[in-house]
Amino acid sequence: MIRAPDSTPDPLLSLYGERHRLCPIPNSELQLVLSLDRQIDLIELEQLCDAVGWSRRPLRKVRKALEHSLLCVGLWRHDTRLPKLVGFARCTGDGVVAATVWDVAVHPLYQGAGLGTQLMAFVLAELQGLGVDRVTLFADPHVVEFYAAQGWELEPLQRRCAFWYAP
Ligand SMILES: CC(C)(COP(=O)(O)OP(=O)(O)OC[C@H]1O[C@@H](n2cnc3c(N)ncnc32)[C@H](O)[C@@H]1OP(=O)(O)O)[C@@H](O)C(=O)NCCC(=O)NCCS
Repeated sequence: MIRAPDSTPDPLLSLYGERHRLCPIPNSELQLVLSLDRQIDLIELEQLCDAVGWSRRPLRKVRKALEHSLLCVGLWRHDTRLPKLVGFARCTGDGVVAATVWDVAVHPLYQGAGLGTQLMAFVLAELQGLGVDRVTLFADPHVVEFYAAQGWELEPLQRRCAFWYAP
C-alpha cells in the first residue's frame, strides 16, 4: 500500500507565512500568532502605536523605516478573514553581527498575558538564527524592569552609550 506523505496543511501558513509561531496564552479562546512574514499594514501599526500612547510619525517615514529594518515582527490576533495587529517589534542591524530592537509594543487589551515576553523571545531567536550575537535596545525608563526580568543587562554606569538627537 502506498501511503500519502504526511501533509496535513498548516491553516496558519497562508496567513502568516513560514516564519510564524502560535503563542500560548491563558485565554484559550483566542489565538495569537507571531509572524515575520505577514505584511504590516501601516494604518494598523499607527493605531497600535496610538493605543500605547506613542506620538505619531509620518507614515512615509514609518514605511521607509520598516522597509529598511532587518526584521519586523507582528503579533496578530488570529482571524481567518482579518487578523488584527495587536503587537509589534522591529530590529535594525547588519544581519550578521549586531542588531538593535525598536518599537516593542503590545496593545493594552492584550498586555499582562506574557505576550511581550514571547514577542521578545521570538525576536531574539530569529536574530540568533542569523548569527547576530550582540543586541541592544533603548528602554523607556518605566519599562526597564520588563527587559531586566528577561535577562537584559543594563548599560553599566551610563558611560558607554552616547545619544545624538537632531535639534
Ligand atoms: C512593555 C510591553 C511590551 C510588555 O508587554 P506585556 O505583554 O504586557 O508583557 P508580559 O505580559 O510578557 O510581561 C512580562 C513581565 O513584565 C512585567 N511588565 C510588563 N510591562 C511592564 C512595564 N511596563 N514595566 C515593568 N514591568 C512590566 C509584567 O508584569 C510581567 O511580570 P511577571 O512575569 O512578574 O508577571 C507592553 O506593556 C507595552 O507595549 N507597553 C507600551 C509600549 C512600551 O512602553 N514599549 C516598550 C518601549 S521600550
